[in-house]
Amino acid sequence: ERQKRIRNFSIVAHIDHGKSTLADRILEMTDTISKREMKNQILDDMPLERERGITIKLNAVALTYHAKDGQDYIFHLIDTPGHVDFSYEVSRSLAACEGALLVVDSTQGVEAQTLANVYLALDNDLAILPIINKVDLPSADPAGTRQQIEDEIGLETDEAVDISAKTGVGVAEVLEKIVHDVPAPTGDLAAPLKALIFDSKYDDYRGVVLSIRVFEGTVKKGDRIKLMNSGAEYEVAEVGINSPKPLARDVLMAGDVGYITAAIKDIKDTQVGDTVTSAAQPTSDALAGYRQMTPMVYAGLYPTDNAKFNDLREALEKLQLNDAALTFEPESSQALGFGFRCGFLGLLHMDVVQERLEREFDLDLITTAPSVTYHVDLHDQTTKAVENPAEMPDVSAIKDIKEPYVKASIMVPNDYVGAVMELCQRKRGQFDTMEYLSDTRVNVIYHIPLAEIIYDFFDKLKSSTHGYASLDYEVDDYRESDLVKIDILLNGDRVDALSFITHRDFAAERGREIAAKLKKIIPRQNFEIPIQAAIGSKIIARTTIKAYRKDVTARIHTGDPDRRAKLLDKQKRGKKRMKAVGKVEIPQRAFMAVLQTD
Ligand code: GTP
Repeated sequence: ERQKRIRNFSIVAHIDHGKSTLADRILEMTDTISKREMKNQILDDMPLERERGITIKLNAVALTYHAKDGQDYIFHLIDTPGHVDFSYEVSRSLAACEGALLVVDSTQGVEAQTLANVYLALDNDLAILPIINKVDLPSADPAGTRQQIEDEIGLETDEAVDISAKTGVGVAEVLEKIVHDVPAPTGDLAAPLKALIFDSKYDDYRGVVLSIRVFEGTVKKGDRIKLMNSGAEYEVAEVGINSPKPLARDVLMAGDVGYITAAIKDIKDTQVGDTVTSAAQPTSDALAGYRQMTPMVYAGLYPTDNAKFNDLREALEKLQLNDAALTFEPESSQALGFGFRCGFLGLLHMDVVQERLEREFDLDLITTAPSVTYHVDLHDQTTKAVENPAEMPDVSAIKDIKEPYVKASIMVPNDYVGAVMELCQRKRGQFDTMEYLSDTRVNVIYHIPLAEIIYDFFDKLKSSTHGYASLDYEVDDYRESDLVKIDILLNGDRVDALSFITHRDFAAERGREIAAKLKKIIPRQNFEIPIQAAIGSKIIARTTIKAYRKDVTARIHTGDPDRRAKLLDKQKRGKKRMKAVGKVEIPQRAFMAVLQTD
């Protein structure tokens, strides 16, 4: 029957190893997309994904493959992101599959997230098909890459296929492999409906669209369904598959991957990881669902226009549907007014959320510098979790401060081990172990404060190893550190949104850096603005922004009206992303100055 001809699989890889390109070839070779409609990385349909050339969201698509045995097979392909910030998207898509194509770039070999993704696939009991990509490049080393896969991952590579996702060489063989090596789904069609929600998004017309994998039973238009976690019941308006455009179907059955709409307007009813069942004949046990993600970093998001606070709340609620790892809570700042403290999985995630809010919901936002969560033990025997540096209690009340550490594993060629260890040491890292992967490659494991990782660790790692190192990390534990809060005063006023926490040893240096940077970023005004960095009442750095003398437009001697208008216009637009704090106008960039290092 039909189920035997379904194959559900994901493509996983380290970032840039070619997942999306392979997905493109598969769509093309199965005529899912005609040559005319084809554009690169077609599944990366978010404008942000296309601009940055990265996958942010998982994406599911159904296609038909006419195999050598003469049968038609239904493939459900789920493309996943490669960046460490989005690994929760990967684990969600894997839960909907029976197999995973593990793409390894043969010019790079096995990297940190290659390994991390293999573990995720193994956790989900998936069949793993190794694929050696980019063999068209002169620097490709397929044999060496196979050896690495065997030695470092422990997977057999006799059956691995050499491909070029770019030219299409070898991809036909991959399609046949999927038929033979990815198990068909099992699941009782007659049992009560049991389906996993692995993604969701909000559509203004159809309400919430649920991406589901059916594990047991069937679902069709008109059925009454129940979302097991919230208990909410709805009548199904439409079921279908993405091919890649949504295509309505009569029924989805055990083994299928597709979508459900049910005029769900109340966003709170739906939760990624929840189980959908039949209201009339509910299943007794829900599916395992997902581990709730704990945010790694927090930042304040504030509308530049204070009247937009409620719009921002609504936007965050809708975005959260499509981004289960995002958390938010209202907060207020003296400097910025009312906004939200949001939790993210990393800086790229934070960046993406801000951009999606601005583009998809037409908001102008100020983001404060990200911070980790500190655990502060107080003299009164209580412990306070501090996500916002401005809320750090007074020094006199603090017994000790603990900060999150990550266990970082860094894969690197032998020659760079010294450079990596030096960097880790400088970033307050504590050495754990070093594991030889082969004669020439090492996996170095360190415990490093998360705050240092988000500060500039990745950039420094890349530059000190000429790009040869790859990094993967997970939060480990909390450790005590000698940390201090640095306040920034502009024109004598403390700006709460600019406060940050750092290690005492780096305090003076970072205080000076920030003051110097703010001096460059904050535009001159018609009065002098002193900038100070302080620990408590002690000033540790000081500089001054001089007052300007003349109107900017006065400098345009030509009197070219066009240029003048353009300049004024540019100033006006630039203003939108500014926030007046007291008498001083602070541009968005200033709030991020804490992060930028040169
Ligand atoms: P993320 O989605 O961001 O995780 O990356 P990805 O793994 O999907 O990589 P993507 O498919 O975007 O490919 C990364 C880059 O490698 C792109 O510039 C591709 O054109 C290129 N690329 C992918 N496969 C091949 C290949 O077989 N040969 C060559 N020469 N280039 C390739």
